[in-house]
Amino acid sequence: MYIYKVGVVGAGTMGAQIAQVISFAGVPVVLTDVNEVAVQQGVDTVRKIYQVRVDKGKMTSEQLEEKMLLITGAPRLDQLRDVDLVIEAVPENLELKQQVFRELQTQCSSGTIFASNTSALSISALGASSNRAHKMIGFHFFNPAYAMPLVEIIPGLVTDPQTVDDMVGFAESIRKVPIVVKECAGFLVNRLLMVYLNETVFCLQEHAASHEHIDQDMVAFGMPMGPFTLLDTIGLDISLEVARILHQSYGPRMVPAMLLEKLVQNGRCGVKAGRGFYEYGGTTNGELEQLIQEGVNETQQHGTKWTIARPLLAMINEAATVLQETVASARDIDLAMVAGIGFPTEKEGPLHYADDIGIDQVLRELEEMKSNLGIRFWPAPLLRRMVDAGLTGRKTGHGFFTY
Ligand SMILES: NC(=O)c1ccc[n+]([C@@H]2O[C@H](COP(=O)([O-])OP(=O)(O)OC[C@H]3O[C@@H](n4cnc5c(N)ncnc54)[C@H](O)[C@@H]3O)[C@@H](O)[C@H]2O)c1
Repeated sequence: MYIYKVGVVGAGTMGAQIAQVISFAGVPVVLTDVNEVAVQQGVDTVRKIYQVRVDKGKMTSEQLEEKMLLITGAPRLDQLRDVDLVIEAVPENLELKQQVFRELQTQCSSGTIFASNTSALSISALGASSNRAHKMIGFHFFNPAYAMPLVEIIPGLVTDPQTVDDMVGFAESIRKVPIVVKECAGFLVNRLLMVYLNETVFCLQEHAASHEHIDQDMVAFGMPMGPFTLLDTIGLDISLEVARILHQSYGPRMVPAMLLEKLVQNGRCGVKAGRGFYEYGGTTNGELEQLIQEGVNETQQHGTKWTIARPLLAMINEAATVLQETVASARDIDLAMVAGIGFPTEKEGPLHYADDIGIDQVLRELEEMKSNLGIRFWPAPLLRRMVDAGLTGRKTGHGFFTY
């Protein structure tokens, strides 16, 4: 099915960016919001994103105006009657999203595909509340959508294969890299990212190294920014919410680091709050150090060793688990981590990196960490099977990939 016109519901941070990406590819977009002011702000945001391109000489002012003609701001859902696809980007709340889709089904034609930009909610649960579960699908952009190439496509349990194909084609037509992911909590990228971020918080909480030191080491490894800078940017409250959803689904190996909870309880929610792991534009009052000390006293876990292997092996182990659950292929897992979070391109993703280290070495180190740091490092059974089968990575020509 060719998508000629798209509706975006929710003109906030993501909705406006998504509308810009789609219009940039030449497809008309109706941008709606429950709040009329938000509609105008959303349209203004689209214009600002284009203006940056004009200022950089990447497009002309005339081209900007042509693109803006493709955007219609609309305060009511009835302007979505003739769209082929609706992308919902309202706040992350299941009841609210279900309500929006129920309203949409009274407005849109029966052929319209319903997509949600949800970061973590169940697509099957969204589908179950509408009369078109077969046309409901997750279509998850990354922030900022105009810069991040990845889109995760998540079919629910009863989503039509044709809907999946249509959305893969649409993602490619708007110049994104689509990865189809089996539905699971956190989907693919947030699941792997959160395990990695959470481990760095454990390292800080246990006095293994300072947050500045850890950030520097991970940037030196090739990550686009350090984990604490990233956590502050995402927002510690949002990160904790994701960590809790993952913990609820996957159990003890995903327990959120206590320090993350302590920072949120103390209003240190990151850049937007003016303080998180770092202080923004103010003086340091030693509160972070005090919270770390409290954590040390409560957990009695301190003085552990910092190495970049801790967060990286946590991510690799989760990637192996995801592969074993057939959530995505090895190629897609690596592609998603490079395109979605900026895992260093030359290392080609966590599974290629594991092949470089050697799967036998990965398994040995995970076993050691399991003994010293806890069961969250319990190695994915697939790793042991690979070692037993002699699939130990690049050195033997066979690991997650064939060389
Ligand atoms: N912000 C991110 O970095 C990010 C990244 C990826 C995915 N997401 C997901 O995208 C979705 C939107 O997040 P956001 O950060 O853009 O939120 P936001 O709060 O910036 O924007 C949400 C918008 O939805 C509008 N809205 C609320 N109820 C509505 C309704 N009933 N009908 C129409 N509009 C309504 C609000 O007025 C607001 O303008 C969430 O599901 C979030 O998890 C966010």
